[in-house]
Amino acid sequence: MPSLPSVSPIALFSAAAVNGPLGLGAVLQQALDTHWYVLGPQVQGFEEAFAAYVGVPHAVGVANGTDALELALRAAGVQRGDRVLTVANAGFYSSTALHAIGAVPVYVDVDEASLTLSPAALAQALAAPGPKPVAVVVTHLYGQLADMPALLPLCRAAGLVVIEDCAQAHGAEQAGRQAGAWGDLACFSFYPTKNLGALGDGGAVLTASPDRAERLRALRQYGWSHKYTVAVPGGGNSRLDALQAAVLHAKLPHLAAHNAARRATAARYNAAFAGLPLRCPPSVGADFVAHLYVLRTARREALRGFLQARGIATEVHYPLADHQQPAYPGACLAGGLPVTEAACATALTLPCYPGLPAADVERVVVAVQDFFAQEPPAC
Ligand SMILES: Cc1ncc(COP(=O)(O)O)c(C=O)c1O
Repeated sequence: MPSLPSVSPIALFSAAAVNGPLGLGAVLQQALDTHWYVLGPQVQGFEEAFAAYVGVPHAVGVANGTDALELALRAAGVQRGDRVLTVANAGFYSSTALHAIGAVPVYVDVDEASLTLSPAALAQALAAPGPKPVAVVVTHLYGQLADMPALLPLCRAAGLVVIEDCAQAHGAEQAGRQAGAWGDLACFSFYPTKNLGALGDGGAVLTASPDRAERLRALRQYGWSHKYTVAVPGGGNSRLDALQAAVLHAKLPHLAAHNAARRATAARYNAAFAGLPLRCPPSVGADFVAHLYVLRTARREALRGFLQARGIATEVHYPLADHQQPAYPGACLAGGLPVTEAACATALTLPCYPGLPAADVERVVVAVQDFFAQEPPAC
Protein backbone atom coordinates (compact mmCIF):
# COMPACT_ATOMS: atom_id res chain seq x y z
CA MET A 1 0.00 0.00 0.00
CA PRO A 2 1.49 3.42 -0.89
CA SER A 3 2.31 5.41 2.23
CA LEU A 4 0.30 8.58 2.76
CA PRO A 5 2.20 11.87 2.71
CA SER A 6 2.79 12.80 6.33
CA VAL A 7 0.78 15.84 7.41
CA SER A 8 0.90 17.60 10.75
CA PRO A 9 -2.08 16.85 12.95
CA ILE A 10 -4.70 19.55 13.56
CA ALA A 11 -5.67 19.85 17.21
CA LEU A 12 -9.05 20.93 18.52
CA PHE A 13 -7.34 23.64 20.60
CA SER A 14 -3.78 24.94 21.00
CA ALA A 15 -2.75 26.66 24.23
CA ALA A 16 0.51 27.70 22.56
CA ALA A 17 -1.32 29.41 19.69
CA VAL A 18 -3.62 31.29 22.08
CA ASN A 19 -1.18 32.24 24.85
CA GLY A 20 2.19 32.18 23.10
CA PRO A 21 2.06 35.65 21.51
CA LEU A 22 0.84 37.41 24.67
CA GLY A 23 4.06 37.60 26.74
CA LEU A 24 2.44 36.02 29.78
CA GLY A 25 5.81 35.19 31.36
CA ALA A 26 6.35 38.84 32.26
CA VAL A 27 2.81 39.08 33.63
CA LEU A 28 3.41 36.08 35.88
CA GLN A 29 6.73 37.46 37.08
CA GLN A 30 5.07 40.77 37.98
CA ALA A 31 2.35 38.96 39.91
CA LEU A 32 4.94 36.78 41.66
CA ASP A 33 6.83 39.88 42.75
CA THR A 34 3.77 41.00 44.76
CA HIS A 35 3.99 37.78 46.85
CA TRP A 36 0.22 37.72 47.10
CA TYR A 37 -1.15 34.37 45.95
CA VAL A 38 -4.86 34.04 46.82
CA LEU A 39 -7.47 36.82 46.35
CA GLY A 40 -5.81 40.22 47.03
CA PRO A 41 -5.18 43.18 44.72
CA GLN A 42 -4.61 41.17 41.50
CA VAL A 43 -7.97 39.45 41.92
CA GLN A 44 -9.75 42.69 42.79
CA GLY A 45 -8.18 44.40 39.77
CA PHE A 46 -9.37 41.67 37.44
CA GLU A 47 -12.84 41.57 39.02
CA GLU A 48 -13.27 45.29 38.41
CA ALA A 49 -12.00 45.10 34.83
CA PHE A 50 -14.16 42.09 33.98
CA ALA A 51 -17.30 43.58 35.55
CA ALA A 52 -16.76 46.76 33.51
CA TYR A 53 -16.16 44.71 30.35
CA VAL A 54 -19.42 42.75 30.72
CA GLY A 55 -21.32 45.82 31.90
CA VAL A 56 -22.43 44.51 35.31
CA PRO A 57 -21.55 46.30 38.59
CA HIS A 58 -20.04 43.40 40.58
CA ALA A 59 -17.78 40.46 39.75
CA VAL A 60 -16.66 37.91 42.33
CA GLY A 61 -13.74 35.69 41.37
CA VAL A 62 -14.08 32.02 42.34
CA ALA A 63 -12.13 28.81 41.79
CA ASN A 64 -13.89 27.48 38.66
CA GLY A 65 -17.09 27.68 36.61
CA THR A 66 -18.86 24.84 38.38
CA ASP A 67 -18.35 26.54 41.75
CA ALA A 68 -19.57 29.77 40.13
CA LEU A 69 -22.87 28.03 39.33
CA GLU A 70 -23.20 26.51 42.81
CA LEU A 71 -22.40 29.76 44.59
CA ALA A 72 -24.73 31.75 42.31
CA LEU A 73 -27.55 29.32 43.12
CA ARG A 74 -26.79 29.62 46.85
CA ALA A 75 -26.59 33.43 46.62
CA ALA A 76 -29.99 33.36 44.91
CA GLY A 77 -31.39 31.45 47.89
CA VAL A 78 -31.88 28.10 46.13
CA GLN A 79 -32.21 25.35 48.73
CA ARG A 80 -32.36 21.59 49.03
CA GLY A 81 -35.50 20.29 47.32
CA ASP A 82 -36.08 23.43 45.24
CA ARG A 83 -36.81 22.84 41.55
CA VAL A 84 -34.62 24.65 39.03
CA LEU A 85 -35.17 24.61 35.28
CA THR A 86 -32.16 23.96 33.07
CA VAL A 87 -31.14 22.30 29.83
CA ALA A 88 -29.80 18.76 29.46
CA ASN A 89 -27.39 19.25 26.54
CA ALA A 90 -24.71 21.39 28.19
CA GLY A 91 -22.28 18.96 29.77
CA PHE A 92 -23.93 18.40 33.21
CA TYR A 93 -22.26 21.46 34.78
CA SER A 94 -25.48 23.11 36.00
CA SER A 95 -26.70 19.70 37.14
CA THR A 96 -23.48 19.19 39.14
CA ALA A 97 -24.05 22.49 40.93
CA LEU A 98 -27.71 21.71 41.61
CA HIS A 99 -26.95 18.23 42.97
CA ALA A 100 -24.28 19.73 45.26
CA ILE A 101 -27.04 21.80 46.89
CA GLY A 102 -29.64 19.03 46.83
CA ALA A 103 -31.85 21.04 44.50
CA VAL A 104 -33.76 19.27 41.72
CA PRO A 105 -32.83 19.93 38.08
CA VAL A 106 -35.91 19.95 35.84
CA TYR A 107 -34.85 19.59 32.23
CA VAL A 108 -36.39 21.65 29.44
CA ASP A 109 -35.79 21.05 25.73
CA VAL A 110 -33.65 23.30 23.55
CA ASP A 111 -34.33 25.20 20.35
CA GLU A 112 -33.74 23.23 17.14
CA ALA A 113 -31.52 25.90 15.54
CA SER A 114 -29.54 27.42 18.43
CA LEU A 115 -29.52 24.40 20.79
CA THR A 116 -30.08 26.85 23.68
CA LEU A 117 -33.12 26.89 26.00
CA SER A 118 -36.28 26.93 23.87
CA PRO A 119 -38.71 29.76 24.76
CA ALA A 120 -41.63 27.58 23.60
CA ALA A 121 -40.53 24.64 25.76
CA LEU A 122 -39.95 26.98 28.70
CA ALA A 123 -43.46 28.44 28.35
CA GLN A 124 -44.86 24.89 28.35
CA ALA A 125 -42.83 23.93 31.41
CA LEU A 126 -44.05 27.00 33.30
CA ALA A 127 -47.68 26.30 32.42
CA ALA A 128 -47.53 22.68 33.60
CA PRO A 129 -49.27 21.75 36.87
CA GLY A 130 -47.20 20.66 39.86
CA PRO A 131 -44.52 22.18 42.08
CA LYS A 132 -43.20 25.47 40.75
CA PRO A 133 -39.53 26.09 39.96
CA VAL A 134 -37.70 28.88 41.79
CA ALA A 135 -34.95 29.58 39.27
CA VAL A 136 -33.66 28.85 35.79
CA VAL A 137 -30.12 28.33 34.51
CA VAL A 138 -29.79 29.55 30.93
CA THR A 139 -26.66 28.24 29.17
CA HIS A 140 -25.22 30.18 26.23
CA LEU A 141 -24.03 27.01 24.52
CA TYR A 142 -21.00 26.77 22.21
CA GLY A 143 -20.70 30.59 22.32
CA GLN A 144 -24.26 31.23 21.13
CA LEU A 145 -26.21 33.73 23.21
CA ALA A 146 -29.58 32.20 24.13
CA ASP A 147 -32.73 34.01 23.01
CA MET A 148 -32.78 36.27 26.09
CA PRO A 149 -35.32 38.79 24.69
CA ALA A 150 -37.86 35.94 24.40
CA LEU A 151 -36.83 34.06 27.57
CA LEU A 152 -36.60 36.94 30.05
CA PRO A 153 -40.27 38.04 30.01
CA LEU A 154 -41.36 34.43 30.59
CA CYS A 155 -38.96 34.10 33.52
CA ARG A 156 -39.98 37.44 35.02
CA ALA A 157 -43.70 36.60 34.76
CA ALA A 158 -43.02 33.32 36.60
CA GLY A 159 -40.92 35.00 39.30
CA LEU A 160 -37.83 32.91 38.50
CA VAL A 161 -34.32 33.94 39.46
CA VAL A 162 -32.40 33.94 36.17
CA ILE A 163 -28.85 32.58 36.25
CA GLU A 164 -26.85 32.76 33.03
CA ASP A 165 -24.17 30.17 32.39
CA CYS A 166 -21.67 32.15 30.30
CA ALA A 167 -18.80 29.65 30.53
CA GLN A 168 -18.74 29.31 26.73
CA ALA A 169 -19.80 32.81 25.77
CA HIS A 170 -17.40 35.51 27.03
CA GLY A 171 -18.13 38.59 24.92
CA ALA A 172 -21.18 37.32 23.02
CA GLU A 173 -23.70 40.11 22.70
CA GLN A 174 -27.00 41.18 21.25
CA ALA A 175 -28.01 44.83 20.83
CA GLY A 176 -24.92 45.84 22.81
CA ARG A 177 -25.86 43.69 25.82
CA GLN A 178 -23.37 40.99 26.66
CA ALA A 179 -23.77 37.46 27.90
CA GLY A 180 -23.87 37.96 31.65
CA ALA A 181 -25.74 41.27 31.56
CA TRP A 182 -29.26 39.83 31.11
CA GLY A 183 -30.06 37.74 34.17
CA ASP A 184 -29.85 38.20 37.93
CA LEU A 185 -26.55 36.36 38.25
CA ALA A 186 -24.05 35.26 35.62
CA CYS A 187 -21.44 32.52 35.88
CA PHE A 188 -18.18 32.31 33.98
CA SER A 189 -15.47 29.66 33.72
CA PHE A 190 -11.90 30.59 32.84
CA TYR A 191 -10.76 27.03 32.13
CA PRO A 192 -7.79 27.24 29.71
CA THR A 193 -9.78 26.39 26.57
CA LYS A 194 -12.47 29.01 27.21
CA ASN A 195 -12.67 32.20 25.13
CA LEU A 196 -11.08 33.94 28.11
CA GLY A 197 -8.91 31.22 29.62
CA ALA A 198 -6.51 31.16 32.57
CA LEU A 199 -3.43 28.94 32.93
CA GLY A 200 -5.40 26.70 35.26
CA ASP A 201 -8.87 26.78 36.80
CA GLY A 202 -10.79 29.97 37.47
CA GLY A 203 -14.31 31.34 37.49
CA ALA A 204 -16.46 34.34 38.40
CA VAL A 205 -20.02 35.27 39.29
CA LEU A 206 -21.37 38.63 38.17
CA THR A 207 -24.40 40.42 39.55
CA ALA A 208 -25.95 43.87 39.71
CA SER A 209 -27.07 43.27 43.29
CA PRO A 210 -24.68 44.54 46.00
CA ASP A 211 -26.34 42.21 48.53
CA ARG A 212 -25.81 39.14 46.37
CA ALA A 213 -22.23 40.23 45.66
CA GLU A 214 -21.57 40.45 49.39
CA ARG A 215 -23.12 37.00 49.91
CA LEU A 216 -20.96 35.60 47.13
CA ARG A 217 -17.80 37.06 48.69
CA ALA A 218 -18.75 35.34 51.94
CA LEU A 219 -19.72 32.05 50.27
CA ARG A 220 -16.40 31.74 48.40
CA GLN A 221 -14.53 31.95 51.71
CA TYR A 222 -16.16 29.62 54.28
CA GLY A 223 -19.21 31.87 54.70
CA TRP A 224 -17.10 34.47 56.50
CA SER A 225 -18.47 37.98 57.00
CA HIS A 226 -15.17 38.75 58.71
CA LYS A 227 -12.17 36.55 59.37
CA TYR A 228 -13.28 33.51 61.41
CA THR A 229 -16.90 34.71 61.68
CA VAL A 230 -19.17 32.39 59.68
CA ALA A 231 -22.24 34.49 58.94
CA VAL A 232 -23.55 32.84 55.75
CA PRO A 233 -24.43 29.11 55.66
CA GLY A 234 -23.32 26.91 52.76
CA GLY A 235 -19.91 28.51 52.27
CA GLY A 236 -16.75 26.74 51.18
CA ASN A 237 -13.32 27.45 49.81
CA SER A 238 -13.61 28.70 46.24
CA ARG A 239 -11.14 31.54 45.79
CA LEU A 240 -9.52 32.78 42.61
CA ASP A 241 -5.76 32.93 42.89
CA ALA A 242 -3.65 35.97 42.11
CA LEU A 243 -1.56 34.43 39.31
CA GLN A 244 -4.66 33.39 37.37
CA ALA A 245 -6.25 36.80 37.93
CA ALA A 246 -3.14 38.54 36.60
CA VAL A 247 -3.16 36.36 33.47
CA LEU A 248 -6.88 36.91 32.91
CA HIS A 249 -6.50 40.66 33.35
CA ALA A 250 -3.68 40.69 30.77
CA LYS A 251 -5.68 38.56 28.32
CA LEU A 252 -8.95 40.52 28.64
CA PRO A 253 -7.95 43.26 26.13
CA HIS A 254 -7.32 40.48 23.55
CA LEU A 255 -10.71 38.82 24.00
CA ALA A 256 -12.46 40.75 21.22
CA ALA A 257 -9.72 39.91 18.70
CA HIS A 258 -9.68 36.26 19.79
CA ASN A 259 -13.46 36.08 19.42
CA ALA A 260 -13.23 37.67 15.96
CA ALA A 261 -10.64 35.06 14.91
CA ARG A 262 -12.86 32.22 16.14
CA ARG A 263 -15.87 33.75 14.39
CA ALA A 264 -13.92 34.08 11.11
CA THR A 265 -13.11 30.35 11.19
CA ALA A 266 -16.77 29.55 11.91
CA ALA A 267 -17.86 31.81 9.03
CA ARG A 268 -15.45 30.03 6.65
CA TYR A 269 -16.77 26.62 7.71
CA ASN A 270 -20.39 27.75 7.40
CA ALA A 271 -19.80 29.13 3.88
CA ALA A 272 -17.90 26.02 2.76
CA PHE A 273 -20.47 23.58 4.17
CA ALA A 274 -23.57 25.44 2.96
CA GLY A 275 -24.60 22.86 0.35
CA LEU A 276 -23.72 19.75 2.35
CA PRO A 277 -26.18 17.47 4.15
CA LEU A 278 -25.27 18.71 7.62
CA ARG A 279 -26.41 21.39 10.02
CA CYS A 280 -24.14 24.37 10.81
CA PRO A 281 -24.29 26.90 13.69
CA PRO A 282 -27.10 29.37 12.88
CA SER A 283 -25.19 32.62 13.48
CA VAL A 284 -21.73 34.00 12.86
CA GLY A 285 -22.74 37.45 14.15
CA ALA A 286 -22.00 39.25 17.41
CA ASP A 287 -24.31 36.88 19.34
CA PHE A 288 -21.94 33.98 18.60
CA VAL A 289 -18.34 33.86 19.83
CA ALA A 290 -17.61 30.41 18.36
CA HIS A 291 -16.35 28.85 21.56
CA LEU A 292 -16.97 25.54 19.81
CA TYR A 293 -17.80 24.96 16.16
CA VAL A 294 -20.38 22.20 16.34
CA LEU A 295 -22.01 20.76 13.25
CA ARG A 296 -24.71 18.13 13.24
CA THR A 297 -24.79 15.08 10.97
CA ALA A 298 -26.45 11.68 11.11
CA ARG A 299 -23.13 10.25 9.83
CA ARG A 300 -21.13 11.55 12.78
CA GLU A 301 -19.10 8.45 13.60
CA ALA A 302 -18.09 7.88 9.98
CA LEU A 303 -17.11 11.54 9.58
CA ARG A 304 -15.10 11.42 12.82
CA GLY A 305 -13.17 8.40 11.59
CA PHE A 306 -12.57 10.01 8.18
CA LEU A 307 -11.22 13.20 9.78
CA GLN A 308 -9.09 11.26 12.24
CA ALA A 309 -7.46 9.42 9.34
CA ARG A 310 -6.48 12.83 7.98
CA GLY A 311 -5.00 13.91 11.30
CA ILE A 312 -7.89 16.20 12.26
CA ALA A 313 -8.99 16.10 15.90
CA THR A 314 -12.70 16.24 16.68
CA GLU A 315 -14.78 15.91 19.84
CA VAL A 316 -18.40 15.37 20.79
CA HIS A 317 -19.99 18.07 22.97
CA TYR A 318 -21.83 16.22 24.47
CA PRO A 319 -22.55 12.55 23.82
CA LEU A 320 -24.87 11.92 26.78
CA ALA A 321 -27.63 14.27 27.90
CA ASP A 322 -27.88 15.12 31.60
CA HIS A 323 -31.04 13.06 32.07
CA GLN A 324 -29.27 10.03 30.58
CA GLN A 325 -26.30 10.06 32.97
CA PRO A 326 -26.02 6.75 34.83
CA ALA A 327 -25.24 8.32 38.23
CA TYR A 328 -28.61 10.09 38.38
CA PRO A 329 -31.42 7.83 37.20
CA GLY A 330 -35.00 9.11 37.41
CA ALA A 331 -34.23 12.67 36.31
CA CYS A 332 -37.11 15.16 36.19
CA LEU A 333 -38.18 16.22 32.69
CA ALA A 334 -40.45 19.17 31.99
CA GLY A 335 -41.59 17.38 28.82
CA GLY A 336 -40.02 15.34 26.05
CA LEU A 337 -36.47 16.29 25.07
CA PRO A 338 -36.40 15.25 21.39
CA VAL A 339 -34.15 18.10 20.21
CA THR A 340 -31.70 17.53 23.06
CA GLU A 341 -31.50 13.80 22.39
CA ALA A 342 -31.08 14.24 18.63
CA ALA A 343 -28.30 16.80 19.20
CA CYS A 344 -26.42 14.38 21.47
CA ALA A 345 -26.56 11.76 18.71
CA THR A 346 -25.40 14.03 15.86
CA ALA A 347 -23.16 16.84 17.23
CA LEU A 348 -19.53 16.94 16.14
CA THR A 349 -16.99 19.63 17.08
CA LEU A 350 -14.35 20.75 14.56
CA PRO A 351 -11.10 22.63 15.34
CA CYS A 352 -11.79 26.33 15.99
CA TYR A 353 -9.50 28.52 18.08
CA PRO A 354 -7.61 31.80 17.75
CA GLY A 355 -4.34 31.16 15.97
CA LEU A 356 -5.63 28.16 13.99
CA PRO A 357 -3.66 28.59 10.74
CA ALA A 358 -5.75 29.40 7.65
CA ALA A 359 -4.13 26.45 5.85
CA ASP A 360 -5.41 24.12 8.58
CA VAL A 361 -8.91 25.59 8.30
CA GLU A 362 -8.76 24.79 4.57
CA ARG A 363 -7.57 21.24 5.28
CA VAL A 364 -10.60 20.75 7.52
CA VAL A 365 -12.90 22.24 4.88
CA VAL A 366 -11.55 19.97 2.13
CA ALA A 367 -11.70 16.90 4.35
CA VAL A 368 -15.37 17.50 5.27
CA GLN A 369 -16.23 18.19 1.62
CA ASP A 370 -14.39 15.03 0.50
CA PHE A 371 -16.27 12.96 3.07
CA PHE A 372 -19.67 14.11 1.82
CA ALA A 373 -18.59 13.72 -1.83
CA GLN A 374 -18.31 9.98 -1.20
CA GLU A 375 -21.37 7.83 -1.71
CA PRO A 376 -22.92 7.05 1.69
CA PRO A 377 -22.80 3.30 2.41
CA ALA A 378 -25.95 1.41 1.39
CA CYS A 379 -28.06 0.48 4.38
C1 LIG B 1 -21.35 25.52 29.83
C2 LIG B 1 -20.38 25.28 30.94
N1 LIG B 1 -20.75 25.54 32.21
C3 LIG B 1 -19.93 25.34 33.24
C4 LIG B 1 -18.66 24.86 33.06
C5 LIG B 1 -17.82 24.55 34.26
O1 LIG B 1 -16.63 25.25 34.29
P1 LIG B 1 -15.35 24.65 35.05
O2 LIG B 1 -14.76 23.60 34.18
O3 LIG B 1 -14.47 25.85 35.19
O4 LIG B 1 -15.82 24.14 36.35
C6 LIG B 1 -18.21 24.60 31.77
C7 LIG B 1 -16.83 24.11 31.57
O5 LIG B 1 -16.44 23.30 30.87
C8 LIG B 1 -19.09 24.80 30.67
O6 LIG B 1 -18.72 24.56 29.42
